[in-house]
Amino acid sequence: MVLVLSSWIFSVHVFVSFLLLISCGITHGTETDILCLKNIKNSIQDPNNYLTSSWNFNNNTEGYICKFNGVECWHPDENRVFNLKLSNMGLKGQFPRGIINCSSLIGLDLSVNDLFGTIPDDISSLLKYVTSLDLSSNAFSGKIPDNLANCTYLNSIKLNQNRLTGQIPLRLGTLPHIKTFDVSENLLTGQIPNFTDGTVTVNYANNPGLCGGSLGVCK
Ligand SMILES: *[C@@H]1O[C@H](CO)[C@@H](O)[C@H](O)[C@H]1NC(C)=O
Ligand SMILES: *[C@@H]1O[C@H](CO)[C@@H](O)[C@H](O)[C@H]1NC(C)=O
Ligand SMILES: *[C@@H]1O[C@H](CO)[C@@H](O)[C@H](O)[C@H]1NC(C)=O
Ligand SMILES: *[C@@H]1O[C@H](CO)[C@@H](O)[C@H](O)[C@H]1NC(C)=O
Repeated sequence: MVLVLSSWIFSVHVFVSFLLLISCGITHGTETDILCLKNIKNSIQDPNNYLTSSWNFNNNTEGYICKFNGVECWHPDENRVFNLKLSNMGLKGQFPRGIINCSSLIGLDLSVNDLFGTIPDDISSLLKYVTSLDLSSNAFSGKIPDNLANCTYLNSIKLNQNRLTGQIPLRLGTLPHIKTFDVSENLLTGQIPNFTDGTVTVNYANNPGLCGGSLGVCK
């Protein structure tokens, strides 16, 4: 009980410091956030017109982007993106690097689309404050970048149902807030990371060659 309470207090403390960090660190959120969404729209194919029909930039009202499909802002009347939920839209293309200019983003969901190519090697500079990353059910290939372990606010990582290969970076086991880690249905091999905190929910199912921990000794 004491343990639960103190860990709760710790989480609140972390969250508050985090909000302070974000609100102090970002001064020109709004222009860059508009540029971020413009760049994403231009870099991704949208065959079902989910973005084309809704992401209309001919409007100067503060907060107008907050009404766009899949966009959630910190405040409804401020052009500063909190969460991007672009799941199941049939989007095609590579990971949208324009996301770097949504500099207050804490959640990114690109699941169930037709995105391909590698997960950027410098993902932590694109998604500095992200707590939740969902790239599941796409066609991402290549390795999971070691750099993902630099996104230290992450509490949920979902990379399941892609074509990721190679070893999972062991450094991911050191992420301080991680609670969910799903890499099932990929082509991953080798040693799995050690999540020292026993409360992490992991899913490694349907990979050809993962080993270690609960999966049995690596040969
Ligand atoms: C601009 O956006 C605001 C807020 O979403 C909306 O109320 C207004 O109708 C929009 N104006 C135009 C010209 O689209
Ligand atoms: C981010 O915004 C800057 C301007 O603030 C721009 O020069 C740059 O190209 C943008 N980056 C990406 C990847 O779109
Ligand atoms: C982030 O991760 C890379 C490995 O990809 C490492 O070399 C680098 O020092 C890290 N950067 C920071 C700022 O922690
Ligand atoms: C994971 O932890 C166990 C027990 O603490 C240790 O024996 C093992 O070497 C660790 N594995 C890695 C890859 O760090």
